[in-house]
Amino acid sequence: MRTVYVNGEYLPETEASISIFDRGFLMADGVYEVTSVLDGKLIDFDGHAVRLSRSLNELEMNNPISKADLLEVHRELVRLNEIEEGLIYLQITRGSDGDRDFAFPDPETTVPTIVLFTQNKPGLADSPAAKRGAKIISIDDIRWGRRDIKTVQLLYPSMGKMMAKKAGCDDAWMVEDGFVTEGTSNNAYIVKGNKIITRALSNDILHGITRAAVLRFAREAQMEVEERNFTIDEAKQADEAFTTSASAFVMPVVEIDGVALGDGAPGRVAPRLREIYLDEMRKAAI
Ligand code: PDD
Repeated sequence: MRTVYVNGEYLPETEASISIFDRGFLMADGVYEVTSVLDGKLIDFDGHAVRLSRSLNELEMNNPISKADLLEVHRELVRLNEIEEGLIYLQITRGSDGDRDFAFPDPETTVPTIVLFTQNKPGLADSPAAKRGAKIISIDDIRWGRRDIKTVQLLYPSMGKMMAKKAGCDDAWMVEDGFVTEGTSNNAYIVKGNKIITRALSNDILHGITRAAVLRFAREAQMEVEERNFTIDEAKQADEAFTTSASAFVMPVVEIDGVALGDGAPGRVAPRLREIYLDEMRKAAI
């Protein structure tokens, strides 16, 4: 049984609880982060901590924990649950003032709820899915306008994942005004020649922590990076495509809406970026 962290306490998962009035539960009024663990160490903890602060600020929510303490909790959960490869899920909600109301409760008297738990995933880095590549479908992006904030409002992305599954695919890319925004839980890229193309940062997409690192490594490896919009049709004609996320690193995409990219197997660029990313991030892990 896992040991989880709730509001300052380490508890067996079956003994951990929060209020039924918690605004995370009632209103999806909360933010989250997912940090990966390789070799028992945290990948890009700093990036996730910085984005967490930003998400909280954007929603005028107090941060209940310092960065140093947050690092300690992450490390303690890795230790207690003996995680070599896996994920740490962190959620902070606006808490509960003991009732349901659309207006935010007084931040002076309502403390945020903080929950962390681990997900053990042996073989996360050496994933067969990454060797095979993902098949994706495209769906309309009908999410709200602040996708840069990492909120727990994940119903539509979950529905998108189910639409993909029903179509016999792995995931979905979302399209708005004709252009791809991002995947259900990852950022989206296409490759044409030596050029990596991905949508520029704005409120339309999550500012991926993996995205920042991968684009840095790509530029360091003399690959050309173009941050601009692209359509699903352009993606179908690309040499390669891939996604990035803390939970799947760099994942090649081999099929879009039934159209195979290249020869239908992972190409040259995405597997190379995956390897560079894993090597460099293992070295920098804490
Ligand atoms: N999802 N875009 C969306 C919509 C996401 O949900 C995620 C991450 C990303 C990639 O961000 P990062 O590289 O910081 O993980 C992009 C996490 C992994 C999840 O919901 O499980």
